[in-house]
Amino acid sequence: MIFNQSRYVELPTEQGNSHMVLFVKKIGVVGAGAMGHQIADIMALNEKQVIIKDVNMELVNKALRNVEKLLDDLVGFHITKADREIERIEKQDGVMLTEEQKKKIRERLRPTYDEERKKEIMSRIKGTESWDGFRDVDLVVEAIAENIDAKKELFRRLDEICPRHAILATNTSTLSITEIASATQRPQRVIGMHFFNPPVTLPLIEVIAGLETSEETVNDIIDFAQTLRNHRYFMQPICVKETPGFLVNRILGAMLREAFACYEENVASLRDIDLAMKAGAGMPMGPFELADLIGIDILYQVDESMKRMQGGLLQQRPIQIIKRMYYARRWGRKTGRGFYEYPSVETG
Ligand SMILES: NC(=O)c1ccc[n+]([C@@H]2O[C@H](COP(=O)([O-])OP(=O)(O)OC[C@H]3O[C@@H](n4cnc5c(N)ncnc54)[C@H](O)[C@@H]3O)[C@@H](O)[C@H]2O)c1
Repeated sequence: MIFNQSRYVELPTEQGNSHMVLFVKKIGVVGAGAMGHQIADIMALNEKQVIIKDVNMELVNKALRNVEKLLDDLVGFHITKADREIERIEKQDGVMLTEEQKKKIRERLRPTYDEERKKEIMSRIKGTESWDGFRDVDLVVEAIAENIDAKKELFRRLDEICPRHAILATNTSTLSITEIASATQRPQRVIGMHFFNPPVTLPLIEVIAGLETSEETVNDIIDFAQTLRNHRYFMQPICVKETPGFLVNRILGAMLREAFACYEENVASLRDIDLAMKAGAGMPMGPFELADLIGIDILYQVDESMKRMQGGLLQQRPIQIIKRMYYARRWGRKTGRGFYEYPSVETG
């Protein structure tokens, strides 16, 4: 491939060679909700300039406060790392460390993130309700509501506003990349970048090409995503075919649907189904705990939009319980009540 040098940067590989990676200086994030604010956090953490947009400044400012909270947690984790290690060694191994040994541990586990670094990261994120900051972005990650008409309208606007070289990525969980791209004059530069909640700790990104997405765009996004770190790991992009539910949600959806069916058929109690999948299948969370975390509203919308799409070997099972909970606003953790209750959540 012939590289346009100004858009690529040479990075060393682990094997000692070098590799050309798309140079992304500024990223636009549209939609400052559950996913958008975390995507902005990750990009700013990786030295990118970020502009994050929502429909009003109230939502934008809430997202900025949420990013600050995430970074506070990260700083807290790093600042206490050495003390936790000292406590672990002394308690678990029953060894009393000398001051000299403690000093060595503190030096070895010096915090990578501190207050100063947090401020630096925050300073790279600008919030907006207008389009002004999008005229010089290199990449946009869209994370607005899972609605095809809203996404197409947004991509039509982005196509008008963003520079010609910019790649427009969508974080859609289920919608067709090809259909979203059809609203633009640059379908070759439209792609799916599907992050998983919470992206600050889960490293997977499903990269999905639409029918018209160019190979260059796919390679650029895979290479770029591999350079990113979240709060714990390097991000791990994988290529996935454009198919309903893509990969993870297709498999996860089948498992959740079976769990809901077992619940409706009274195969076991809700708590026991969760326990069974943790204690018997090694899952870190039970299906109902996971459903409350994802959000019943999201599961309902995802199911509805997957039903509208063609193809995919989806097991069709009735999930009446999700539909009823959706209309009762029992949306899980976010509304304080789903399969379980979350009394500390502010609702309203
Ligand atoms: N929540 C998850 O677990 C999850 C995981 C992976 C992918 N996704 C996908 O990410 C996207 C966003 O999901 P979310 O959970 O963050 O939603 P959310 O409801 O928390 O946030 C969406 C935000 O977009 C804003 N918005 C809506 N229309 C807009 C527009 N035209 N311009 C600017 N802002 C607009 C809303 O005001 C809201 O703040 C969806 O496509 C969803 O399918 C969600």
